[in-house]
Amino acid sequence: MVSDTLASLAARQRTAPVDEESASRLAAGGLELRLVTTDDERDAWTQSVARGFLDTERSAEQLAAVRERSTYRRAVGVYDPSAPEPAAPVGSVAGWVTGLTVPGGATLPTLAVSSVTVAATHHRRGIARALVEGELRTAAALGVPLASLTVSESQLYGRYGFGAAVPVTSWRIDNRRAGWIGPDPAGRVDFVSRERLRELAPALHERVRPRVVGELVLPDGQWDTFAGTRPDAKQAGKIRAVQYTDAAGEVRGLLAYSVDENLADYARSTATVSLLLADTPDAHAALWRFVLGLDLIGEVRASELSVDEPLRWMIADQRAAHVEVVDHHYVRILDVPAALEGRCYGAPGVLALEVTDPLGITGGRWVLRVDDGGRGVVEAWPDGAAAPAGATAVSLGVTELAIVYLGGVSLATLVAAGRATTSDMAHAARVLGWHEAPRLSFWY
Ligand SMILES: CC(C)(COP(=O)(O)OP(=O)(O)OC[C@H]1O[C@@H](n2cnc3c(N)ncnc32)[C@H](O)[C@@H]1OP(=O)(O)O)[C@@H](O)C(=O)NCCC(=O)NCCS
Repeated sequence: MVSDTLASLAARQRTAPVDEESASRLAAGGLELRLVTTDDERDAWTQSVARGFLDTERSAEQLAAVRERSTYRRAVGVYDPSAPEPAAPVGSVAGWVTGLTVPGGATLPTLAVSSVTVAATHHRRGIARALVEGELRTAAALGVPLASLTVSESQLYGRYGFGAAVPVTSWRIDNRRAGWIGPDPAGRVDFVSRERLRELAPALHERVRPRVVGELVLPDGQWDTFAGTRPDAKQAGKIRAVQYTDAAGEVRGLLAYSVDENLADYARSTATVSLLLADTPDAHAALWRFVLGLDLIGEVRASELSVDEPLRWMIADQRAAHVEVVDHHYVRILDVPAALEGRCYGAPGVLALEVTDPLGITGGRWVLRVDDGGRGVVEAWPDGAAAPAGATAVSLGVTELAIVYLGGVSLATLVAAGRATTSDMAHAARVLGWHEAPRLSFWY
């Protein structure tokens, strides 16, 4: 049912016309907003995106690989007919509808946004604003309740109603000092080929993903990036792949890492974990234990881990790990009632919510009633009508609602930061809270 809805929304979003409001705003500045459709247009668009992200010009092989692997993405460009090469877009955005895991384990449709770039010759003229706002309006009109993205700079997307809902952690571990005090699982750890990792990872991720709030259904091509199996992959041979098989013979975990030699002290080289996918606590422990015990390694690095990563409690010396918290997965609510009814809650209660939305997509007033099982229903709360007796008032912006939506940030923290108000902070924070930190394990 969920996947039918997702597939149908995704198909309609891919071919929906561009947003008229953004198109006419750009036209007033002599620019054209267009869907990218042909292969030539896609190649020119890909080159503009690569330049925008400070990358090198794409080879013919790379362009072909992108074309083959990105058919699921809608690509939109902004064109300047007065430029010497008008076929090269001066602005780009990509988006596709996929599934996001929310508290309680439901998978809600989200517009995944990516590849937002504007040529340095055309920046600060409102092109990115027109692109992002236009794609949000298009998705909202189709009935997509959420949008989400990962960002190059933290300060870019709050103005469009995106909130940093999933903070994650980056780790640098002095593995010699750490000392393992975690479990010693009964299964086995084996090196496998990158091709085998590529083959096993999608199904394993889809077993794990519905249990991890904040994770997305992963586009298939992303696995080739993790496994280095894209034809255009750089230094793919550096990637080492490992699997964990439980005592019953089932593959429960996969690990990908690469090593950078320390030429000054070979025995203090660095191992960087790019993927640690574990279906059970045993698989999780066994793979960490393996990587922390590697010979010739003095430092293990890993990022996009949960802020509550259990590894902290599996090492004897916590100060052997330098842990940094970073904003990672940003969420934008496009339909407040659908988003609120889609997730579960930390405690029963009645919240009278006033949500402001500077873009006018989904602001308004609603009553959220949460039952003893954590299920929420949303009722209209018309302007001028009194809130239900006993309801806890919560007033906040759509960005702030997004920040607390996945339970990764407490409403109490936002109230303390002056970014939300409520008549009963402890109660509202308990209702909106969730018992596990969200995570997103990759960039997109
Ligand atoms: C970020 C980028 C897309 C902005 O494009 P742009 O067309 O110059 O942006 P706009 O003119 O539409 O600006 C929209 C708003 O963002 C602000 N803004 C844009 N770039 C900003 C930056 N780098 N830092 C802070 N604010 C920025 C503008 O001041 C403007 O603010 P306001 O409308 O609220 O007053 C462009 O600079 C770029 O391509 N950067 C490199 C690639 C990148 O990092 N992309 C983002 C990927 S997540």
